[in-house]
Amino acid sequence: MCGITGYVGHKNAGPILIEGLKRLEYRGYDSSGVGVIDLSTGHIIVRKTKGKIRNLEELIQQQNLPVSRIGISHTRWATHGAPNHVNSHPHADSAKKFLVVHNGIIENYEVLREELQHQGSVFVSETDTEVIPHLIASLYQGDFLDAVRQAIVRLQGSFAIGVLCADHPDTLIAARVGSPLIIGVGKEENFIASDVPAILDRTKRIIYLNDGEIARLTCDNVEIMKFSGAAVRPKIHTVKFSVDAVKKQGFAHFMLKEIHEQPEVLERILKSYLKQEEVNFPELNLSPGQLKGFERIGIIACGTAYHAGLVGKYAIEQLAGIPVFVDAASEFRYRDPILDEKTLLIAISQSGETADTLAAGREAQARGAKVIAVCNVVGSSLVRESHGVIYTHAGPEIGVASTKAYVAQVAVMFLLALKLSRNSGRTVPAQRESIIAQLRQAPAAYKKILAAKNQIAQIARKNSHFGCFLFLGRHINYPTALEGALKLKEISYIPAEGYAAGEMKHGPIALIDEYRAVVCVAPQSEIYEKMISNMQEIRARKGKIIAVATQGDAAIKKHSSHVIYIPATHNILTPLLTVLPLQMLAYFIAVQLGCDVDQPRNLAKSVTVE
Ligand code: G6P
Repeated sequence: MCGITGYVGHKNAGPILIEGLKRLEYRGYDSSGVGVIDLSTGHIIVRKTKGKIRNLEELIQQQNLPVSRIGISHTRWATHGAPNHVNSHPHADSAKKFLVVHNGIIENYEVLREELQHQGSVFVSETDTEVIPHLIASLYQGDFLDAVRQAIVRLQGSFAIGVLCADHPDTLIAARVGSPLIIGVGKEENFIASDVPAILDRTKRIIYLNDGEIARLTCDNVEIMKFSGAAVRPKIHTVKFSVDAVKKQGFAHFMLKEIHEQPEVLERILKSYLKQEEVNFPELNLSPGQLKGFERIGIIACGTAYHAGLVGKYAIEQLAGIPVFVDAASEFRYRDPILDEKTLLIAISQSGETADTLAAGREAQARGAKVIAVCNVVGSSLVRESHGVIYTHAGPEIGVASTKAYVAQVAVMFLLALKLSRNSGRTVPAQRESIIAQLRQAPAAYKKILAAKNQIAQIARKNSHFGCFLFLGRHINYPTALEGALKLKEISYIPAEGYAAGEMKHGPIALIDEYRAVVCVAPQSEIYEKMISNMQEIRARKGKIIAVATQGDAAIKKHSSHVIYIPATHNILTPLLTVLPLQMLAYFIAVQLGCDVDQPRNLAKSVTVE
């Protein structure tokens, strides 16, 4: 969702701020803006507009952005008020002394707005954000930091903000509660941003601002304190990945690049966590005794991560014999869940900043459960708030539709199931060894499926005209069907439904005719024959079938219009492989339809508001 960047230093701020915004485009947005303090006049100058960042660049070509040494910029994902240039950030107070960019939602903005209007503030936008500069202005008596501090303690909701003041052209102030914000520490220049990619080509030295902290940045100093004023000694992290990780490197889209990175992601995960035949999670922060003591596991997540959680349920229950429930985090947080200290709660999140997942994790902790994050982003809110973490090591994921992060989450779920299975008596060592041996083959299997790219692209071309897709899978590949449908609808906007194949006759069968395509995930498994029966029922109703099956299964061809093969693997590991053809199918269909694959309409990479 909304992206923030800010700069203070000796260089011209405008181009740096626009460049930073481009690196945050993946977050999803519908308007953008930039504000600077004009070096020659000391005035605040703002340029903002609806639509893509290139629109903002065109505007700046027409209406010049003055040279400056300090500024803030923003991509807005509309919540309060339409995506137009008035509602875009930055927002200013009536006297244009303060300028604010904001990510999050101010829940008490109506009360504040009324109060400020009574005091004479004139509001121009429909946004909740606009109360912030007016509030700061109403509290300002010459001390910039103090006015911001007094203002933010009156805000309810979630926010990450960057603030400028025309009286203090050398100072940038930032603060956060509940929305992500990082500080980049450079040489005689400092930055703020919603995420690391925005500033990766400027500095790799990062401070993760915590909730309830405020930062004062000048070109040669970063000072951090609590809202109370107590000083905080910041920890500077050095980011390991290179700037190439956030570039397309010759691929047409980030999504395609990330699909191709999956073999190396799997290799990295296996190398990190599999030592000979033992699974070791170094940052789990749970002793073997503690791990043995859990009687129940809860998994909470949103979107794609939720589907990885569902795979985790099948794997953990089957291998370790521990009961698992999986909830969408947005449901869990309000359903008065029954938890205790015997429950291990696993929160899965690529970004570690999803508002519902964070809230669900807090709810679980408040009820006595231990929370372990399965997360891709070092230093993210979820990681910092959890008892322990298993990193998914997928590297930065820029495409809004998650691919490599999902595969990494699924791989981690299998490793966790294997670890928990050691104490369960449900599997014998030989079974575990066989699964581990097959898991080690997964990167090579990925390369084989990727080599069938042209065939999958051709299937996509032949089927992109269908107005509706049904994805069916059973057992541990039921989540694969859900994920395949989600990928397709996210990036191609074709209505797509994922269903448990056994449920087909309870509703979705009514959809089937010659105008629908049905993707059947049918690898080798205990319930393969049942999948075949479903396929026959679809064919009898003239549905067009695209099957995902195990290499060597020639028989499936007679039930399907197209077959995409995956290499043979252990039954339980099939979801790791079956999802790849579905990612590729969704990608090539979206390309065929001319869709904006990396930034699908209305979607945000990281949903930081509820
Ligand atoms: C958004 C993204 C999805 C993602 C979900 C959860 O909806 O578009 O790709 O799966 O959020 O995000 P998280 O960062 O918590 O995994």
